[in-house]
Amino acid sequence: MQKFTDNETTGMTMKALVYKGANKLALEDRPRPAIKLATDVIVRITTTTICGTDLHILKGDVPTIINGRILGHEGVGIVEEVGHDVSSFHKGDKVLISLITSCGRCSFCKKAMYSHCSHGGWLLGNTIDGTQAEYVRIPFADTGLYLLPPDADDEAIVMLSCILPTGLECGVLNGQVSPGDIVAIVGAGPVGLATLLTAQLYSPAEIIMIDLDENRLKMARSFGATKTVNSSDGKAWEQVMSLTQNAGVDVVVEAVGIPATFDLCQTIIAPGGHIANVGVHGKSVEFHLERLWASNIKLATGLVDAGTTPKLLKMVLSGKLDAKKLVSHRFKLSEIIKAYDTFSNAAKEHALKVVIKNEGAV
Ligand SMILES: NC(=O)c1ccc[n+]([C@@H]2O[C@H](COP(=O)([O-])OP(=O)(O)OC[C@H]3O[C@@H](n4cnc5c(N)ncnc54)[C@H](O)[C@@H]3O)[C@@H](O)[C@H]2O)c1
Ligand SMILES: [Zn+2]
Ligand SMILES: [Zn+2]
Repeated sequence: MQKFTDNETTGMTMKALVYKGANKLALEDRPRPAIKLATDVIVRITTTTICGTDLHILKGDVPTIINGRILGHEGVGIVEEVGHDVSSFHKGDKVLISLITSCGRCSFCKKAMYSHCSHGGWLLGNTIDGTQAEYVRIPFADTGLYLLPPDADDEAIVMLSCILPTGLECGVLNGQVSPGDIVAIVGAGPVGLATLLTAQLYSPAEIIMIDLDENRLKMARSFGATKTVNSSDGKAWEQVMSLTQNAGVDVVVEAVGIPATFDLCQTIIAPGGHIANVGVHGKSVEFHLERLWASNIKLATGLVDAGTTPKLLKMVLSGKLDAKKLVSHRFKLSEIIKAYDTFSNAAKEHALKVVIKNEGAV
């Protein structure tokens, strides 16, 4: 089997959001993708969204992205065309697209490490064209798509492509959140808030949310944070220590992706605690072993495997997890540059997750 690199096309065109180099994006007419391998499906996107990772891409933090790449790894849509070897999906099915492509057969897939699949991993909007377009080609569709009821709410479901499994797997499960724990989450963006929502499934005693953005902290309190810390005065460390009677926290989740926030995690972790890094980092960080070598801490890193998606999907469909409350703004695909501006200026715009609908689907 081969690694996927490029799309075949149909001769028809579509609108797509294209990365044009650091800090440059354009909405362009691009060739519509066609089936390339028998395991592919073509999905007509109805709803997509923008991830904090797309903002890291824009900053130039993700070196695998080439000039000309269609961005986006989150989406809900309708199956348009099905490859011969796809057995679970048919034209007209409504589907959730997972950000992770997995063959289901390689040694990493057998270990449920789908993000390291030898023939897949995080491809969409990274090493192959993504979902911020009218159509997308999904390799290994049988494992990368989830069938939805026709009346499923696109806006709630699209939160399952990336942020909810990321918060649960890279934050809560890697951090081993347990009943009674004091948990801190650095970063109250959509991923930090998804971590907050899913951490509550494990009954921690306290969840302290840390951010610079007062609006996002207010949302965090309404989503179940027991305490919030605004770190814009540079004194988050003192505030967290005072909130924990100088003990520090049992679990800290880094959901920003810059050296300063990784640093903060190292200063507030209690002996025996777990640091779970979720943020995508474009710069190296300092790891303070001179302080931490005797602290019995555990550090976890990871790209989401999205193995928890089926479970989370059931929770969202049954109403046990209210994913739609993460949505703050709505745009049409023709307005996607404005959507990026809004999401990049989240504090000013009071933005959480911005959803983008294809014209035909609005
Ligand atoms: N590991 C994975 O598999 C995975 C998957 C998805 C996203 N991510 C990463 O998760 C991170 C969060 O994603 P998001 O969509 O929530 O991004 P986002 O950009 O919307 O949110 C980041 C938040 O961090 C806050 N912040 C910035 N500087 C800060 C500081 N110095 N102190 C405290 N808070 C600060 C911002 O105000 C913002 O609310 C990103 O790095 C993203 O790339 C990782
Ligand atoms: Zn993402
Ligand atoms: Zn695999």
